[in-house]
Amino acid sequence: MITSPPGRASALAHPNIALVKYWGKRDDALNLPASGSLSITLDRLHTRTAVRFDPALGADDIVLNGRRDAAESRKISAFLDLLRAHAGVATRACVVSENDFPTGAGLASSASGFAALAVAADRALGTDLDASSLSRLARRGSGSAARSIFGGFAEMAAGTRADGEDAFARPLLDAAAWPLRVVIAITTRTAKSTSSRTGMDLSRRTSPFYRDWITTGAGDLEVARGAVRSRDFDRLAAVGEASCLAMHAVMLSTRPGLIYWNGATVECMQRVRSLRERDGLGVFFTIDAGPQVKAVCLPDAAAQVADVLRDVAGVQDVILSGLGEGARIVADSELEVASGNPA
Ligand code: DP6
Repeated sequence: MITSPPGRASALAHPNIALVKYWGKRDDALNLPASGSLSITLDRLHTRTAVRFDPALGADDIVLNGRRDAAESRKISAFLDLLRAHAGVATRACVVSENDFPTGAGLASSASGFAALAVAADRALGTDLDASSLSRLARRGSGSAARSIFGGFAEMAAGTRADGEDAFARPLLDAAAWPLRVVIAITTRTAKSTSSRTGMDLSRRTSPFYRDWITTGAGDLEVARGAVRSRDFDRLAAVGEASCLAMHAVMLSTRPGLIYWNGATVECMQRVRSLRERDGLGVFFTIDAGPQVKAVCLPDAAAQVADVLRDVAGVQDVILSGLGEGARIVADSELEVASGNPA
């Protein structure tokens, strides 16, 4: 086990990508999703977060990707307050977190961010939460973060309880049991203009399709769960693309419409369809609240899919990823924890 001096710990988490999507909440305060979701955790992208609780600090000091941002700091302080309340302490903390991929551009940085923070802060405070409780806690930061606690394939339950105690993720299948690959086509490095949180709230309030979207989600989840358990790629491809497109139909029908795609996004979708339907490759696309396209592939299809997407006009970069592990403690030395008070 990796040990750290009392009050400090570092954790690493990977973003995850939903194949059955979450877009809408049943409770804003507790951040409870209106429907369940199913995801894969990626090994190639990382968030590393170091936390140090220090009685000498008068306020939390939060540095994300080398910057202090007032709005982000408030969110993270509120999240740390949940754990402080649980631990019965008021000690402020220094948090340093870094992503090795673009933040806020539809690559699920909030998922890996809050999963890493939950795991690091839990260890630093010695609260010793189990995986389900860590997932519940991560959910309070970001719904998708509940899934990044686990590796491989994970399923997030919407739950029915008003207190949200049944709304957490659980592992479905290990990465090694079905080692799919994901080709991520980066079509912009600019952060999105409407956050998932704002967008899904607007969709709930204004999209005429929102209710149907939530109703069909349960069936999609069941099909996807079965496809993962039986490693049925074609079934997963069909339900994965359907869930993605239905979510974007809700986004587009939101008023005013949320258009997260650019031209290259659409072209990548067409290429993926053609690779599957014309060339017989095991591949399907999924897209979140941003213009990047994630092509989920059978292992032997990934190199060819990457070559094709790299050539699409507007694609700036292509990242190849496998499926990764869940959020975990790493040695402190892997990330510097700022030792002084805020500058
Ligand atoms: C499109 O988890 O970022 O990526 O709970 O408000 O923080 P909050 O939202 P977030 O939304 C993710 C939306 C999505 C689909 C998904 O990951 O399921």
